[in-house]
Amino acid sequence: MPSPRRIPLRSAVRAWVYDRVIAGMTADWYRNVLARLPDGARLLDVGIGTGEALARCADVVRAKQLAVTGLDIDRDYLARCRSALERAGLSDRVSPVLGSVYDHRGGPYDAVYFSASLMLLPDPAAAIAHVASLLSPQGRLYSTQTFHHRRSPLLEWAKPLAQHVTTIHFGRVTYEHEFRKAFADAGVEIEELTTMHSTRRSSYRLAVARVPDAA
Ligand SMILES: C[S@@+](CC[C@H](N)C(=O)[O-])C[C@H]1O[C@@H](n2cnc3c(N)ncnc32)[C@H](O)[C@@H]1O
Repeated sequence: MPSPRRIPLRSAVRAWVYDRVIAGMTADWYRNVLARLPDGARLLDVGIGTGEALARCADVVRAKQLAVTGLDIDRDYLARCRSALERAGLSDRVSPVLGSVYDHRGGPYDAVYFSASLMLLPDPAAAIAHVASLLSPQGRLYSTQTFHHRRSPLLEWAKPLAQHVTTIHFGRVTYEHEFRKAFADAGVEIEELTTMHSTRRSSYRLAVARVPDAA
C-alpha cells in the first residue's frame, strides 16, 4: 500500500472524484446508522471507500468509542482512507483492511454495515450470509442505499456508463423486491426498512436485519 504522500495522480483523482460525488450524501447515512449502535460496538464497515463519509462522523465514533474495521478491495480508496482517518483523528478507532467481504475472517462484530456497497456486489446474498456468520448473538446487519420505485431501463443502462466516466461503481439499479430477496436467500430477516429521504422516483432507505434464532 503506498503512503498517502506517494499516491499516483490517477489514483488520487479517482478518490477525489469519489469524495466530491458520494461522500456528502453517505455521511448522513453513516450518521443515522452510527447513532443506533451501542457504546463500544465493534463494527465491520463493508466497502469503507475513501473513509470520508465515516471521517465526517468522527464525533460519534469517538463519543461512542466504536472500534471499526473498514474493509475495501480498492487500493486507491484505501490509501485516501488512511489519510482521511488520520486527519479526523480516527486512526486509533478505525482499521482499514484491504480485502473482499467474501474472504474476510474476523469478528465477532456487534454490527456489520453496508453503505451503498451491498447491491453492487456480484452475489449480495452470499455476502449477507457470510457476514451474518461473523455477528455476535445480539449483532445486527445495517444497510443504507438508494431504491428505485419503478423499473427504469434508462437508468439501468446509464449507471454502468456513469461508472465508466466517473470511475465510481454505483451498483445496479435496486428495487425493493430484489433487496428483500437477497436477505431471504441468505436466511437473514429484515426487521426494519426505514425511508430516510424520498423523491417521486427513488428513496434512500436504511435496513436493519438480524439472524433468526439469534437474540
Ligand atoms: C459506492 S462505494 C461506498 C463507499 C462508502 N461506504 C460510502 O458510503 O461512502 C462502494 C464501495 O464498496 C467497495 N467494494 C466493492 N466490492 C467489494 C468487496 N467485494 N468487498 C469489500 N468492498 C467492496 C468499493 O471498492 C467501494 O469503495
